[in-house]
Amino acid sequence: MSDWRSFWDSEHSIYVNARHKDVHYREIADQIAAFVPGPSARVLDYGSGDAIHADRVAAVASDVTLCDAAPSVRASMAARFANNPRIKVIAPEDVAALPDGQLDLIVTNSVAQYLTEDELTGLLAMFRRLLATDGTLIFADVIPPDVGALSDVTALLRYAAKNGFLGAALVGLVKTTVSPYRKIRSTLGITQYTQAQFMQTLTDAGFTAERLARNMEHNPARMTFRARPV
Ligand SMILES: C[S@@+](CC[C@H](N)C(=O)[O-])C[C@H]1O[C@@H](n2cnc3c(N)ncnc32)[C@H](O)[C@@H]1O
Repeated sequence: MSDWRSFWDSEHSIYVNARHKDVHYREIADQIAAFVPGPSARVLDYGSGDAIHADRVAAVASDVTLCDAAPSVRASMAARFANNPRIKVIAPEDVAALPDGQLDLIVTNSVAQYLTEDELTGLLAMFRRLLATDGTLIFADVIPPDVGALSDVTALLRYAAKNGFLGAALVGLVKTTVSPYRKIRSTLGITQYTQAQFMQTLTDAGFTAERLARNMEHNPARMTFRARPV
């Protein structure tokens, strides 16, 4: 395995146990739900991963589209939500084929670091086209250049202690040091942005942008941006 796409399509151990995965996706779903502007909103969770609690978002929106590059993730989410008419699961190429102005809220959490700067620019142009004129884009968990692996470790341990899986998190951290994640991160790296760079990228893509006071995920050193079409 030598690239991020195949890593996320594999049986990785980023979530150290079932409780970690459950707590993580429940919190992400509740935070996405808090950004939903109203019951008629059409929502896209782009790079959704195993969004096992997407039904919590669907409960306060008109519909939720989950999109992930990994076919195995899409298959698992499609099976999980097969009986929920408000949730659909599609591939990135299907998102590109959606009509203009179709969406009221797009959320992308913890994806920017796995995209090249050119891929990010392309994605933002697509999001700008898909958003309704009064729509909102939330780009979350963007990693500044001075935030490294140590910050992730500290944040994970604090999160695990608070949520009752500290032992599993310690074992998980040891596993991660010898995992494909570590190898790919040291060869391919991740893409990091200063606040000013990310704001400029959003502005160049046709958005007004602000950094929110709090990151959507548990590492407070990472950044969340809210953007609206100009
Ligand atoms: C760190 S996980 C984040 C998952 C989820 N958003 C969350 O909040 O936990 C990154 C996810 O982004 C997906 N991904 C990476 N690059 C992508 C792309 N270009 N298009 C769509 N999904 C992508 C991966 O397959 C993976 O599931």
